Amino acid sequence: MGTVLAIETSCDETAVAIVKNRQVRSSIIASQIATHRQYGGVVPEVASRQHLEAINQLIAQAFQEANLNWQEIDGVAATCAPGLVGALLVGLSAAKTLAIVHQKPFLGVHHLEGHIYASYLSEPSLNPPFLCLLVSGGHTSLIHVKDCGNYETLGQTRDDAAGEAFDKVARLLQLGYPGGPAIDRLAAQGNPQTFPLPEGNISLPSGGYHPYDSSFSGLKTAVLRLVQKLQQEQDELPVSDIAASFQQSVARSLTKRAIACAISNGLNTIAVGGGVAANSGLRKHLQMAAGEHNLRVLFPPLKFCTDNAAMIGCAASEHLNRGHTSPLSLGVQSRLSLSDVMQLYQKSC
Ligand code: KG4
Ligand code: ZN
Repeated sequence: MGTVLAIETSCDETAVAIVKNRQVRSSIIASQIATHRQYGGVVPEVASRQHLEAINQLIAQAFQEANLNWQEIDGVAATCAPGLVGALLVGLSAAKTLAIVHQKPFLGVHHLEGHIYASYLSEPSLNPPFLCLLVSGGHTSLIHVKDCGNYETLGQTRDDAAGEAFDKVARLLQLGYPGGPAIDRLAAQGNPQTFPLPEGNISLPSGGYHPYDSSFSGLKTAVLRLVQKLQQEQDELPVSDIAASFQQSVARSLTKRAIACAISNGLNTIAVGGGVAANSGLRKHLQMAAGEHNLRVLFPPLKFCTDNAAMIGCAASEHLNRGHTSPLSLGVQSRLSLSDVMQLYQKSC
């Protein structure tokens, strides 16, 4: 039981993996970043076409690397929500077709549930309940993981996601797309104390600030104003110092909220997921703070932080082992709340 062929095509990576329970047998990613870089961001129509061109070859490669054949596959899964509709359709149609042809159960997977499950790949002993700090290009949330399929969002950003803030600030500093890795690299050479920047607190009418919700729009504006001021004062922008100061502010803001949320909800493990989980500033800050509070913090290996199909396969295999499968009539959805994940499944045994 539990060996799943999984496909991920929700954005700009075409990814295929074979996962047996929490073990990755193969994981292949064809990134489209080089194509989209020239446009400064993902062009949905171009993404769909590239997924279509890459998918069959990647599936063949995944079988070859795993050294498995179809007899050993128990289910076929693909990300079905949230994401770019045209891009999702490519992966979902491929998965449904293969499930029909090979007479295997089919599962649609929520992309964010995949990011939560990335932590299980490096820590197979992990079990709910725990807190997930989910920081991707489109989402920044603190999620109480109660069980497979049972999630409660305890906090989130009121505007831009953390990854989006990295990408926008990188654009402002003319660092190209995607911005997160570029800022991370530059920040390593800069001094984070150079420019004090806000940490995105949401004020409460009663005074103080919301403990788990955050906002990155004030921080973004502060960086814009800082850049405009510095451009008037000097010829060359201290880009590394700005990157380091910005990264520190995001890392502090996320760390403060994740620690407070874990402690007040009695959760002693924080599992981090999503592209921004690859950020070295966040990894350092959160690890240090968690140590001070006797909390366990888990970061997936870098290759499973950003989009990949192994995390989708891991989530699917967990559902499959509980008898959850999806109807072949399941469609793609550009948005779907994590609390509605169980809408994707029917109990088949
Ligand atoms: O999870 P992901 O691959 O895709 C989504 O589901 O959105 O996350 C992509 C985001 C992008 O905004 C990218 O700039 C950011 O993750 N990212 C990083 C780093 N690597 C990727 N942000 C900060 N530091 C990094 N090292
Ligand atoms: Zn993602």
